[in-house]
Amino acid sequence: MSAEKIIPGCVPRHVAIIMDGNGRWARKRGLPRTAGHAAGAETYRRIATACSRRGIEYMTVYAFSTENWKRSGEEVSAIMGLLKKYLLEAISSMERENVRLRVLGDTSVLSPELRELIARTDEISGHLTGMWANLCVNYGGRDEIVRACRAWAEDPEREPLTEKVLSRYMYGPDIPDPDLIIRPSGEYRLSNFLTWQSAYSELYFTDVLWPDFTEEELDRALAAYARRDRRFGGVKQ
Ligand code: FPP
Repeated sequence: MSAEKIIPGCVPRHVAIIMDGNGRWARKRGLPRTAGHAAGAETYRRIATACSRRGIEYMTVYAFSTENWKRSGEEVSAIMGLLKKYLLEAISSMERENVRLRVLGDTSVLSPELRELIARTDEISGHLTGMWANLCVNYGGRDEIVRACRAWAEDPEREPLTEKVLSRYMYGPDIPDPDLIIRPSGEYRLSNFLTWQSAYSELYFTDVLWPDFTEEELDRALAAYARRDRRFGGVKQ
């Protein structure tokens, strides 16, 4: 644990992270962008372990957006390769670490191999109790909302439309909304990440590039969160 003080009872239940800055991290070192993603995947492993140790119940990361297909074939394959490597590792480590894994997004276009690995991690998660590590893959916030509306409209047993009802058709209907969304790399936007679920999330931005994001950075974000005054549109008692 780092020096930053974590206030008991103020740890967010759900932390979501936009893992941004991998490309710039690599460029600064004269390396290919793919090296930045490989470093970013390492950071993800460290921060997921740190979140689990801090009692965070859900950690959701943006690993590949519906817009990321616009990148070069080489970069897309490299990210898919890193996902495969991570899923393979997870299959052998998640029981020991008691971490549950879930992929959110349209997985139908992923390779059969990746889909098989996802099915295997789903199966293992079914008998675990620890932190949920959610990976958003081929995920877009607006796309998720449109799909939810379509699924509701096509459901013969649909109930009258309310926010609560539509939430049931999102990728992770049982996942609480993120309390805290962290975006590193000095960009101040959400980029189509958890568009529906982020309505009342606290946002934390830092200039650090994702591969350089440390446990200390995480604790700074958690400490900032603990100082926020969340009113959800109400007034303080
Ligand atoms: C954004 O940085 C990052 C991505 C689009 C990909 C993130 C993917 C990984 C870290 C690897 C796979 C994930 C796991 C969990 C194994 P960017 O490329 O847009 O950075 P830039 O803005 O500096 O160019």
